[in-house]
Amino acid sequence: MNDHKALILDEVRKYHDDVQTVGEFVPGVTEIWPTGAVHDVADRVALVEAALELRVAAGQRARRFESEFARKMKRRKALLTTSGSSANLLAVSALTSQRLQDMRLRPGDEVITVAAAFPTTVNPILQNALVPVFVDVELGTYNPTVDMVARAIGPKTRAIMIAHTVGNPFDVADMARLATEHDLFLIEDNCDAVGSRYDGEPTGTFGDLATVSFYPAHHMTMGEGGCVLTSNLVLARVVESLRDWGRDCWCEPGESNTCLKRFDYQMGTLPRGYDHKYIYSHVGYNLKATELQAALGLSQLGKLDDFCAARRRNWRRLREGLDGVPYLLLPEATPRSDPSWYGFVITVDPEAPFEASELVGFLEARKIGTRRLFAGNLVRHPAYADQPYRIVGDLTNTDIITTQTFHVGVYPGLTDEMIDYVVSSITEFVRVRG
Ligand SMILES: Cc1ncc(COP(=O)(O)O)c(C=O)c1O
Repeated sequence: MNDHKALILDEVRKYHDDVQTVGEFVPGVTEIWPTGAVHDVADRVALVEAALELRVAAGQRARRFESEFARKMKRRKALLTTSGSSANLLAVSALTSQRLQDMRLRPGDEVITVAAAFPTTVNPILQNALVPVFVDVELGTYNPTVDMVARAIGPKTRAIMIAHTVGNPFDVADMARLATEHDLFLIEDNCDAVGSRYDGEPTGTFGDLATVSFYPAHHMTMGEGGCVLTSNLVLARVVESLRDWGRDCWCEPGESNTCLKRFDYQMGTLPRGYDHKYIYSHVGYNLKATELQAALGLSQLGKLDDFCAARRRNWRRLREGLDGVPYLLLPEATPRSDPSWYGFVITVDPEAPFEASELVGFLEARKIGTRRLFAGNLVRHPAYADQPYRIVGDLTNTDIITTQTFHVGVYPGLTDEMIDYVVSSITEFVRVRG
């Protein structure tokens, strides 16, 4: 290593020690964040080292991340992108590709999903002129059952796209079977569930496509970032093309003729021999992530198993601590699953002698951060007022979630002391107000 670089990285390590002040936990004063990234000195060094190279556009690290993450997630391909939201956009858009011939989704086709969701699980359906069909979810697991989804299948249904809510897998094995029986595509939004397992297999491996977010709230982070996972090589090529301006060429930056026939194609009505680097087979985007994101991702990836283990531990401590507290519906792992939790979701019984918002206010006043279960009922938001959608059955539980449900954190930066303070605060509130 160059002497100057070694010196700079040594200084970075010292700087890390300087700013790494872990203060004493003071109940009611120290913030207990609902989500957060956990970074160590290796992350800081990896990011600075990549920055020193001044190679910002995706390159070798990005490709290495894709191959290591694909292996970790047991998929043939991982395609790095700017966010979980753009991963969802790419996954849904890929299903409209002409490469899929008769299987491609067309405007007006329906995609079954849930309204108790994060908005960008649903938005790509609308952005592709498809119609979301909303089904309700169960309280406690916050996922729809296979029966709920089966009842929503109609003549225009072409796909199912559902998130494993806060890391709790929906019945993805039977959902995949249902999709196969009806010739539907299945997209798993795995943004909140990296490390979760269903029937012993990682979530994200059951559907045609799965997506991941690397925003700081998630299981590992790049600051911003996301990924599309698939083992279908046709879909992988389509996702890559859509991500990279819609181009047909798959050369890495700096490469020119990996297919060995760069000037030998005839596509569309272009003249034969038009430079393949500039032939566009999709109406694409530029949703490529950067080398700096990949550098951080590679460093975080080595810690992923520990992060997931800490999330499980923290969730269990909350679950055991709150067991039996009246008026609260505590979360349940779905049968056959081993969730790698994103958060700890609580629903206040609508018959409770206090409002959920009062409990949330009490916790926030004690510096215990809370978050809603994302959008609650998405169709109640102004953005969706004039959008086309269909609701099958009713959204009774989704509406209950909108008023009664919130979550607290389980992220690896929380200590046992913090978790115990969350437990004692909730218990105290319910004892006094219940
Ligand atoms: C289920 C789900 N899908 C997608 C996203 C979007 O991810 P990003 O913030 O990386 O765009 C989130 C964000 O938290 C999410 O919870």
